[in-house]
Amino acid sequence: MSFKYLSESTKKTEQLGKALAKGLKPGDIVCLFGDLGSGKTVLTKGIAQGLKIKKAAVHSPTFTLMNVYPAPKVPVYHFDLYRIEKPKEIQAIGYEDFFYGGGISVVEWAERLGRLLPKVYLSVEIHHKAENERVFVITAKGKRLKELVKKIKI
Ligand SMILES: Nc1ncnc2c1ncn2[C@@H]1O[C@H](COP(=O)(O)OP(=O)(O)OP(=O)(O)O)[C@@H](O)[C@H]1O
Ligand SMILES: [Mg+2]
Repeated sequence: MSFKYLSESTKKTEQLGKALAKGLKPGDIVCLFGDLGSGKTVLTKGIAQGLKIKKAAVHSPTFTLMNVYPAPKVPVYHFDLYRIEKPKEIQAIGYEDFFYGGGISVVEWAERLGRLLPKVYLSVEIHHKAENERVFVITAKGKRLKELVKKIKI
């Protein structure tokens, strides 16, 4: 079962992120799949805001593969794997400590994970429809996240 959402503005995409954040728990991994400029970072800003992290703190890591945003409740690990060529490079940064640690991971360009794609994660596919239109398809990979998807309220 998937949850589909049509966003017509960055504001709506951020609202979707906030709605997702409500259901996320420490240790959860959100994998974002979508082309350049589809709205992965905008959605991440919404997720972060929902976890009481300031929107302005959130930007795609450029010289590193990941930014850490400390938060009152649970830290967010924001990965951007665009520049990755081999999953080995992700292993080199000790990604497992983050994925399987106590924070919430959000991964842009998650397809780059290849064989390292986790077994349990929230999949977010973004389809760029028109200048300001994006369709989000959210699917649970793993049992607990099915509940999260069922309960998305926006
Ligand atoms: N409904 C929408 N939701 C999200 N972004 C939108 C929407 N409509 C227009 N945009 C624009 O699309 C762009 C999305 O940029 P964003 O940096 O989030 O993309 P991205 O998927 O992270 O790209 P990259 O692969 O380069 O990291 C922004 O310029 C934003 O203003
Ligand atoms: Mg981005």
